This record gives sequence, structure tokens and C-alpha cells, in this order.
Amino acid sequence: MRVLILLAFLAVSALAAQKRYDGYKVIQVKPKTLASFNAIAKLYKEQNSIYDFWTEPRSLDEPIDIMVPPAYAKEFERILRNHKMEHRIKIADVQSAIDVSRKDQASPSIAKDPRSRSVSSRYVVNWTQYHDYTTISVFLAQIAQAHPDIVTLKTIGKTHENREMYMVKISNPQTNSNVTKNAILVDGGIHAREWIAPAFNTWLINELVENYADHPQYLDNLDWYILPVMNPDGYVYSFADDRLWRKNRNPVNGPCVGIDLNQGGAAGNGCDETYHGPSAFSEDESANARDAILSIAERTQVYLSYHSYSQVWLTPWGYTVDLPEDYPLLFDLAQNAVNNLTAVYGTQYAVGSTTGLLYVASGGSIDWIKGEAGIPYAYTVELRDTGDFGFLLPADQILPNNLEMWEAIKVIAEYTMEIV
Ligand SMILES: *[C@@H]1O[C@H](CO)[C@@H](O)[C@H](O)[C@H]1NC(C)=O
Ligand SMILES: *[C@@H]1O[C@H](CO)[C@@H](O)[C@H](O)[C@H]1NC(C)=O
Ligand SMILES: *[C@@H]1O[C@H](CO)[C@@H](O)[C@H](O)[C@H]1NC(C)=O
Ligand SMILES: [Zn+2]
Repeated sequence: MRVLILLAFLAVSALAAQKRYDGYKVIQVKPKTLASFNAIAKLYKEQNSIYDFWTEPRSLDEPIDIMVPPAYAKEFERILRNHKMEHRIKIADVQSAIDVSRKDQASPSIAKDPRSRSVSSRYVVNWTQYHDYTTISVFLAQIAQAHPDIVTLKTIGKTHENREMYMVKISNPQTNSNVTKNAILVDGGIHAREWIAPAFNTWLINELVENYADHPQYLDNLDWYILPVMNPDGYVYSFADDRLWRKNRNPVNGPCVGIDLNQGGAAGNGCDETYHGPSAFSEDESANARDAILSIAERTQVYLSYHSYSQVWLTPWGYTVDLPEDYPLLFDLAQNAVNNLTAVYGTQYAVGSTTGLLYVASGGSIDWIKGEAGIPYAYTVELRDTGDFGFLLPADQILPNNLEMWEAIKVIAEYTMEIV
């Protein structure tokens, strides 16, 4: 009893310490003139510690989602009015959306869907709610212990705050032991608040291993390397302290903690939400990932980096408007994957190069993965949704998101098996 009271107390005080977003709104604007676009771009450059850009300014007529604190609501309205800017309130109260998204909820239709065989699992995680880093780490240990022949749990190094970073290797040594298998590398959660990415990665690990009998070819002919949570410190912080935290937790910037681990970001000021750090791989997390990736790059044909949100499937390059020579191959594979994804629930994903769909100097890791690590099919995938909930995707969308993305993964896997 006493323990229960203590636990309840701890739970309440942990909640009390969390940053609240009462009265914050997410407003989608659509600049239709250069002047209005420039007004928004100026806020993005100069005031992004006040206005949190959930999606970044791209070009005229493209929607931009901006979180506006209540204290700046009037100021922001004035800017919208001055420029007669088309806009819509996407989230009327961010705190309510946070509370909803964290509830344990299975969508009623998905529970009856035969594809949802992994609504509940043998392990500590399920996909009707988001799980904290401790729970995910326990899950990884559990599944590795249950399948020591197939699953190897490796530590690739420690984070700034001394947490282990895990890489899961999934490989069936019983089959085709005399051939060198191609490999697929998957990561996610570089940006802490994009919780759907780790929630997909844990599901993928579970699906490949627990439902091996349904698709043995994916383990018999391929090896998988999955880095389910690339930014553990940030992820922990987003659970306990600030749901909308993006960066890691390195306090190098004086009062402004954190470095954006996706090194391509354009911002150079330490307080910016996308500050990319003093140099490429300055951070423990990105240096660990670099070393782990280089060690397996030779056999790895595909790299999938999961983010949210926007429903886009991006190819290199991000640093230039030029396209890689093999762009048609990268595009076709991505488009085929997306076609099968869309067939499940009708969810649309745009496919294209990072600069084609976003802007120059965005993206980041896939440029290095393709250009330097030499992994040919390097993709950044921004998962659900397109801004109705944004980072606060309700838990009842985790399974639909995962089930449709699995169809895309199958296309990728079938293709990768055949690459010689
Ligand atoms: C999902 O897991 C959490 C934590 O382990 C648990 O509290 C919850 O009841 C589970 N939900 C379902 C539907 O099994
Ligand atoms: C090894 O290679 C030989 C010849 O290519 C093939 O016949 C055999 O089935 C392979 N063994 C395994 C375990 O895959
Ligand atoms: C992709 O969809 C097509 C059309 O439904 C189907 O024939 C094919 O088997 C799917 N590919 C995979 C790998 O599931
Ligand atoms: Zn991201």
C-alpha cells in the first residue's frame, strides 16, 4: 500500500514538472505572396524560440504549421492580418492534444482488422500507446533473450547523459550461411518529439522476429540493423519534461540546451530549435551512429530514417538541387513502396528528392549516408500525419501507421533481396 501511494505520488510529481502548453495553438498558414512568405521566413529565422515551426517554410502556396504561444497570439494575428494570409487553426489547444495522444487507445476498427495481429505482444511494449525509453530498452532485451539465435542486441555507445544507445541486429544464421546477405538499416527518433518513429521501429522488430513464419524470406535472405531510438536523452526528456523537445540534451549553448542531431539543418544560432552544432558529428549520439553505420555499410543497400510528420518519402540530395545519378532507381523503389502503402488505407505519401519537396540544406543524414557511407538507397521518411495532430499523433494511429508502412517495407525488402 505504502509503495502504491509512493508510486502515485511520484507519477503526479513527474507530471507536475512537465512543461504545459495550455492555450498554445498550431496554426497553418499558406503564404500566397512573396511579402507574406518573407514575413513568415523572418519569424522562422529570427524568432523561432518563440514560434515553434512544426514544419518549415518552403515556398509560396505551401502550408506551414506554426505553434503560437498564447502571449504572442495577438502579435501573430496582426502579422496574419497585415498580409491577409490564408490560415487555419489545426490544433486549438496543444495541451489537450498532448493529453489525448498519450492515452492508451486502440482504434476500434483496427482491433477487428486481421492485419492487426500484434495489437498485444508477449513483451512489455504494445502499439496502443507510446512507451518511454526504459520500457523500450526492456523490450529490446526481452526479444533478444527470447530469440538469441536471430536477435542480437548491441550497444553502439553512450549518449551525452550516459544512456546506452542500442542497435538491434536481426539475422537468421540457419539459412544461406554461405552467401553474403544484403542488409537494410533502419533508424528513427533522431528528433525526440517524433514519437511515432520509435513506435514504428519497435513494431518492425517485433513483426520481423515474432511473425517470421509469415515471411521467412525477409530474414533468410536479408540482415536487418535497426536503431530504434537515435536520441535517447531527448526522448526521455520529451516524456518527462517537455513533450515537444526536439534536440539532444547537450548543454553546450549556455542557456540553450541541445543540438539537432540531423546535421543538415540550416540554423546556426545555439537557441534555434534546429541548431546543428559546432561541427558535423560533434555529438556523442551522431558520432556513435556514424561509427556503427560505417561498420555495416558495405553490405547495406537500403537506409530508412524515420521522422514525423508530413507523409513524405525523400531521396537525396538535400544539400543541392542536383539529383543523384541513380535517382530514377531510388524514385521508382520509393514510389512502388508508397503505392503498396497507400493501398492499405488510402494514406498518401509524396515521393521526391529532399530539395525537390522541401528546400536546399534540409534533410541531413541521408546525404552523408549515400555520399560518404556509400549506401545507395538512402531515404528519409516522414510518417503520419499531415498536421491534424502533427507530433501529437494519437496513439490509436500507431497501428494503422505501422501496418501501412509494413507494406512499404515489404516492397523494399523484396527488392533488396535481389540486388547483386
Ligand atoms: C499497453 O502497455 C501498457 C504498458 O505496458 C499497459 O498499461 C496497457 O494496458 C497496454 N494496453 C493494452 C491494450 O494491452
Ligand atoms: C550454399 O551454396 C550452395 C551452392 O551455391 C547451395 O547449393 C546451398 O544450398 C547453399 N547452402 C545454404 C545453407 O544456403
Ligand atoms: C504490392 O502490391 C501489389 C498489388 O497489390 C502486390 O501484387 C504485391 O505483392 C505487393 N508487394 C509486396 C511486396 O507485398
Ligand atoms: Zn525529424
